[in-house]
Amino acid sequence: MTLGSPDFWRRRRVLVTGGAGFLGSNLCHALAGLGARVTALDAMLPDGGANPANLEGAGVMLVRGDLRETELHSLCQGVEVLFNMAAQTSHMGGQRDPVADLAINAVAQVRLVQVMREVAPKAVVVHASTRQFYGRPLSLPVDEFHPVNPPDANGVSKWAGEQYWMLENRVLGRPVVSLRLTNCYGPRLRIADARQTFLGIWIRRVLEDAPFEVWGGSQLRDLAYVDDVTRAFLLAAEQADRPEVAGRVFNLGGAPPLSLLELAHLLIAANGGRGRFETREFPPDRAPIDIGSYHADDRAFRAATGWAPMVPLEEGLRRSLAWYRERLADYAF
Ligand SMILES: NC(=O)c1ccc[n+]([C@@H]2O[C@H](COP(=O)([O-])OP(=O)(O)OC[C@H]3O[C@@H](n4cnc5c(N)ncnc54)[C@H](O)[C@@H]3O)[C@@H](O)[C@H]2O)c1
Repeated sequence: MTLGSPDFWRRRRVLVTGGAGFLGSNLCHALAGLGARVTALDAMLPDGGANPANLEGAGVMLVRGDLRETELHSLCQGVEVLFNMAAQTSHMGGQRDPVADLAINAVAQVRLVQVMREVAPKAVVVHASTRQFYGRPLSLPVDEFHPVNPPDANGVSKWAGEQYWMLENRVLGRPVVSLRLTNCYGPRLRIADARQTFLGIWIRRVLEDAPFEVWGGSQLRDLAYVDDVTRAFLLAAEQADRPEVAGRVFNLGGAPPLSLLELAHLLIAANGGRGRFETREFPPDRAPIDIGSYHADDRAFRAATGWAPMVPLEEGLRRSLAWYRERLADYAF
């Protein structure tokens, strides 16, 4: 199944920041398959989801460079669509080093904003944002009118980065769309540890026949399979000239909400019944920034674009396990 419209993407010049990471690399594969001319920019930061294996076979050009310092003019020249996926994504990392977190997620974003103004003023921008800065939800599901209450430094920097891009729309009329993502999963997610999401290390442990840990267990999540997320980004770009889409921030959810305990059982079922887990109290250093339960009200994006998630959770988990089973050496280092 193609995830986007080949007529729209054929020969289109696309820049994907964070293109060697989880979501960026999946986008790169889809875009190249649709005939786009794709450049991936990535600093290959060791603590994030960057992995050279992520772009294997994609047929895109990878530029190793850091948004904080790389010369960006030549990279951005002539770009028609920017998928802006690069970020410092670790919540604990942001707490430990808020200056570095802010430098990547906000200051470097302003640097990119300014260069794009100079050399690609008409390009469409689809920005990867996050549900994180809503904080602990006041009520569920969470729509776009929920107050912004970042629970950690990473939430503050991601909010700032998003807002700098939205200003480009409000002040200069650039077609910008921001997608506030829920927890995403699937092939090319970092599974070496829990830095990207708890589900990464769960997948690794299950495949290595080792127990994984469930912290708490009653928290609700609405996981989004990566192909559905990729399709949402492509649709947002394809429709960014429509007033219903341009200049808007949208929540993006996924599967119907379920508790982490239910998810743990589903993962084991998807592995043919093999796997085991232990439940633990939330670690004291993480508890203060935990947001509890979350699931998105993403009806606005569905209504504006016609998007709906298509991969059921059970199927997404099966596909993920099968994909990593073949590639454990590249991902479980
Ligand atoms: N994956 C999720 O569940 C999720 C949820 C909410 C929001 N998001 C957002 O989606 C985007 C992509 O997330 P992901 O899960 O693919 O993360 P990821 O860590 O896999 O990818 C981000 C990539 O950005 C690169 N990067 C970081 N700083 C950079 C810099 N200064 N210059 C160039 N490259 C840099 C990293 O090396 C990495 O490859 C991020 O903006 C993230 O905040 C993701």
